[in-house]
Amino acid sequence: MNLPTSESELEALGIDPARVPRHIAIIMDGNGRWAKARNLPRALGHRQGVLALKPIVKATVSLGVQVLTVYAFSTENWIRPQAEVDALMDLLMEFLRKETQELKDQGVSIRAIGDVSALPKRAQEALNEAMETTSDQCRMILNLALNYGGRDELVRAVNRWLASVSMEGRWPPGEISEADLAKHLDTRGLPDPDLLIRSSGEERISNFMLWQIAYTEIYVTRTLWPDFTPTTLLEAISDFQRRTRRFGAAE
Ligand code: FPP
Repeated sequence: MNLPTSESELEALGIDPARVPRHIAIIMDGNGRWAKARNLPRALGHRQGVLALKPIVKATVSLGVQVLTVYAFSTENWIRPQAEVDALMDLLMEFLRKETQELKDQGVSIRAIGDVSALPKRAQEALNEAMETTSDQCRMILNLALNYGGRDELVRAVNRWLASVSMEGRWPPGEISEADLAKHLDTRGLPDPDLLIRSSGEERISNFMLWQIAYTEIYVTRTLWPDFTPTTLLEAISDFQRRTRRFGAAE
């Protein structure tokens, strides 16, 4: 579908343009099952997954979302067959090579979270170039989670922090705050996700943004990621807007 652009069209769908989530995070699950259902190789499912991502980026930009984080490769994904890992890395490089300019034209800045230093050198180079090319854009951040794991991020944050503390001297015991730790996460400077979407029906977090999703609303759809469209996204946002977020307060 074409994304409704006017406020009245959005309102007809039950969406308040003023309360669109600032940060949406997506676990793009179901590429393998999509391919299997068609007797296709899993890599083709991932390729279709990249195709599905493009209109979602466009839709989030036009809705005024500030950050879109997508789980493209987890710290656990390395144990998949080598051919599938290679296919995912190739797709990442192809995506960056082909889409960076268009993303820049849409006002999108590409960023990454995760331990990207473990990605193949060529993928790191493509990523660095894409981030550099789009660094002056500020309409929306497309945050790619690559070799990302929530536990790994926390451990790296603490190590990063310890390295800086040992240079500055001792940190007073008991004086570490949540804000201090958040400053060392890969997501430093970004708002926490308001809405986490997981496709393909699995009701799991799968080590995704463990710190950041403390009060995030979770929306699970049975739709497999390659079938996920802007309409599915609008359904998720509409559902999100019907909820009352209390952040631990009484009703
Ligand atoms: C999970 O589906 C999906 C992944 C492990 C990778 C997601 C990657 C993409 C959508 C493409 C790459 C993204 C970019 C930005 C280039 P699954 O394979 O676990 O599906 P299954 O559970 O049905 O087997």
